[in-house]
Amino acid sequence: MKMWEGRFTKSLDENINSFNSSIGFDARMYREDIQGSIAHATMLEAVGIITMEDKAAILDGLVAIASDIENGILGFDSKAEDIHMFIEEELTKRIGNPGKKLHTARSRNDQVATDVRLYVRKESVTLKAQLLELIAVLCDIASSEIETIMPSYTHLQRAQPITFAHHLMAYVEMFRRDVSRVDDWFVRMNHNPLGSGAAAGTTYPIDRELTSELLDFTGGPTYNSIDGVSDRDFCLEYSGLLAIIMVHLSRFSEEIIMWCSWEFRFVELDDSFATGSSIMPQKKNPDIAELVRGKSGRVLGDVMALLTMMKGMPLAYNKDMQEDKEAIFDAIDTVHQCLDAFIPMLATMTPRKENMRKAAAQGFINATDCADYLTKKGMPFREAYKIVGQLVGYCLAEDQTLEKLALSTYQEASELFADDIYDAIDLDNCVKRRTSFGGPAPEVVKGHIADVQQYIAKNKEMNQNNE
Ligand code: ARG
Repeated sequence: MKMWEGRFTKSLDENINSFNSSIGFDARMYREDIQGSIAHATMLEAVGIITMEDKAAILDGLVAIASDIENGILGFDSKAEDIHMFIEEELTKRIGNPGKKLHTARSRNDQVATDVRLYVRKESVTLKAQLLELIAVLCDIASSEIETIMPSYTHLQRAQPITFAHHLMAYVEMFRRDVSRVDDWFVRMNHNPLGSGAAAGTTYPIDRELTSELLDFTGGPTYNSIDGVSDRDFCLEYSGLLAIIMVHLSRFSEEIIMWCSWEFRFVELDDSFATGSSIMPQKKNPDIAELVRGKSGRVLGDVMALLTMMKGMPLAYNKDMQEDKEAIFDAIDTVHQCLDAFIPMLATMTPRKENMRKAAAQGFINATDCADYLTKKGMPFREAYKIVGQLVGYCLAEDQTLEKLALSTYQEASELFADDIYDAIDLDNCVKRRTSFGGPAPEVVKGHIADVQQYIAKNKEMNQNNE
């Protein structure tokens, strides 16, 4: 018998029941459902809608249910319609009459909106902790690679000299923005929909400020009961920020995969974070990075599923919204799994400094510095650019490098060239002198790392307060 079967003459078809049911995927919100119900019952008593005895029975019953689920004593009934019905039914089975009063002045519509918010909010604290750990690992690696010269790339062509530390710190900035997106989202989503009812609030004298306080919704109650039950922006935004994280991880994975190839050999993955081939004995494959790159597709798909699910929906609640859960849970799980694998893979990876240096020594990545040399001696940049272009062309034809070119050849190209050109295009100097803010010079990157380390400490502490 369903709770709502009063007006029906037939039971729900068995296949349709399983089509309609969400218990298979929303059972994971049982803690949040119980947390919400405890706050609701506490409020019902505080405003005089239920008695102290009823409240005590409800709270004891709910706490017992939570611990029985936790300890594996109580399993979920796969025939239940959803986690909300399951827990309410179980409570009534256990405590009788008071259990039947729990749903006074509440609807599953505001209940589910509350549960999903609480669940995603809790997950966001774990996500932020993982992102901060990733940033910390990157800073650690960067600290030992401050002088490791490598080429930067544009169009995947060697461009200008940087260091491995500088390259890694670019990812740090991406992940710091990801953290700040979680923070922004947190403030915007942290409002309490409980008390919106089915769509039109309630005639009971409920206290929504109290349930907001009990559930740590620091933004207070949602302003409009219709919006309270029909808003899933927090899922759209959260899946969106997860998708951006996956885009970052996927770009990083792509680079790691390239760096592991014989063509680059910039890094070596630890044996415990790589796999072999079933046929080619020589192979060591970067499967983890490839999987992370591949799994980004799932999360991007989840965002699209959520947006499409919401886009044509009239106000207020519609059953379509039950579809929010699988998508947002999948996105959350995927990102957590990817970070769990990615962080230790990075932490155990060995940079091959010599190979980065070798790559930096070929490809004329100091050509801009050579042109800058001339401009600093008074030549307009466009003219200098042309002369150095011709010198590079000459080097290519003669199988030469700018470092080895005779001074006489330089001087044939421009009389501004003097002996100090070799110092100006020396790779170490080229990096050391790129001291512009945000540039790759070791002293600049050292400052960047120090700033980020302070940021990590501050944010870790703030995040613990949200737990
Ligand atoms: N399982 C439902 C969901 O996830 C709960 C809300 C059901 N509300 C309703 N009026 N049928 O959306």
